[in-house]
Amino acid sequence: MSTLIRIFDTTLRDGEQTPGVNLNVYEKLEIAKQLERLGVDVIEAGFAIASPGDFEAIKEVAKNIKNATVASLARALEKDIDRAWEAVQYAESPCIHTFIATSDIHMKYKLRMTEEQVLERAVAMVKYAKKYCPNVEFSAEDASRSRLEFLYKIFEEVIKAGATVINIPDTVGYSTPEEFGSLIRNIKNNVSNIDKVILSVHCHNDLGLAVANSLAAIQNGATQVETTINGLGERAGNAAMEEIVMAMNTRKDFYGFTNNIDTTQIYRTSRLVSTLTGIAVQPNKAIVGANAFAHESGIHQHGVLAEKSTYEIMSPESIGLKQNRMVLGKLSGRHAFEEKLREMGYNLTEEQIKITFQKFKELADRKKEISDSDIEALVSEKVAKVPEVFVLESFQISSGNKLVATSTVSVRRNGTVKTEAATGEGPVDAAFNALDRAVGISLKLEDYSLRAVTGGKDALGEVTVRVSKNGKSFTGRGVSTDIIESSIRAYLDAINRVLSELGEEIIGDSNSKADAI
Ligand code: KIV
Ligand code: ZN
Repeated sequence: MSTLIRIFDTTLRDGEQTPGVNLNVYEKLEIAKQLERLGVDVIEAGFAIASPGDFEAIKEVAKNIKNATVASLARALEKDIDRAWEAVQYAESPCIHTFIATSDIHMKYKLRMTEEQVLERAVAMVKYAKKYCPNVEFSAEDASRSRLEFLYKIFEEVIKAGATVINIPDTVGYSTPEEFGSLIRNIKNNVSNIDKVILSVHCHNDLGLAVANSLAAIQNGATQVETTINGLGERAGNAAMEEIVMAMNTRKDFYGFTNNIDTTQIYRTSRLVSTLTGIAVQPNKAIVGANAFAHESGIHQHGVLAEKSTYEIMSPESIGLKQNRMVLGKLSGRHAFEEKLREMGYNLTEEQIKITFQKFKELADRKKEISDSDIEALVSEKVAKVPEVFVLESFQISSGNKLVATSTVSVRRNGTVKTEAATGEGPVDAAFNALDRAVGISLKLEDYSLRAVTGGKDALGEVTVRVSKNGKSFTGRGVSTDIIESSIRAYLDAINRVLSELGEEIIGDSNSKADAI
């Protein structure tokens, strides 16, 4: 029988450490539900002590997820472990994931602790966590640069103390596949009680080797890999779940392992994570990039038409990528729309269905054919929303190559409509300046991106903006067939997110430099 490789997903923890990413509780919960559908074995939902928002999100995920273990990260400190348990205790299958650095560099410069002190702390904290939770994972941070004999010792002792999972991180992405594979083999051969626990690996991608290192590890005895969707994570990111799973499945003849992932959920998960984090997937990214299944050259197209296997090693359908079918039209009623949402796997509240259906009707008036991708874009704009303090009433734009761009925007707050006008370096800048004035707060625009949801001139344009306020980043999204409207909606969404997190007291701090008209 082939060995099962467990997938420990850390999109909501290490993935959220991607610069500029800041997911709120609802967004984390949406992603967690999708990870459950995908079939991951463990969801690391956050780092409970890091912030009240992280704590709440872990708690919500723990309460709502039934088919995966829910973990929280904790340093090897009592206060971290207390907080982690407070959050994960609601899960059907909770896990406390505690870690301490074991490399000379980290112990000397970061921890200022000796090997003996680190060993003592690790054992004490595993015992402490074990009092709360039967499932305790221990990670030796920077394991790949740690002294081998010390690693053997600390693993042996934390296993005696009750650890159920031992995780070997390549924290700085320094290892190579041969080296990392042999590290895992050495640990298997030299830690006497290692067979009592799950042996896990956690690889970072600084040298572009995270997936190769993870695969080398499972070939040498690891039975859990820690991954993120789209390879998100600190610096160059973590090992990408979709690449590891599709490598295992497509080359089952070579690897011979199984896993619990429903690969037909991969594409949807990737899109959801990209939409909610605001981090676009590069077009040539393996498995989930826009070009991953596109055949450009005539020779390739000819081959694929004659026989798919000439140039296709896996099918687009295997990751849930369907042909963009025309699914609904102008005359489709709410019943058909609800049916479609169910068929696509969405489980929306009454209120969300009502709002999304209204958006669908508006779109059907503007766009002839509505596809699965359009519906996905409408849903992702409407789910996981924060309360709309400001709602867009109307806007007007005047711009041209010989004109100063000007914009007038009206927003409603508690029944009162405020209208402001401003100029800018083009229509989008003018509209954002007018919005800053109308809402009375000024934000720094860090990033702006526009994506056509489908082909065709009448395609929906999806705009993602990243703004910062008081040193924190917020992502806003908007979709419309009119890209200025998508831009305004995205910016207003970001404003509402800022207000939801920082409070409405910040209204009125505007020192917008935009020229009033
Ligand atoms: O990269 C790392 O070492 C980590 C640990 C906390 C597991 O993320
Ligand atoms: Zn990490």
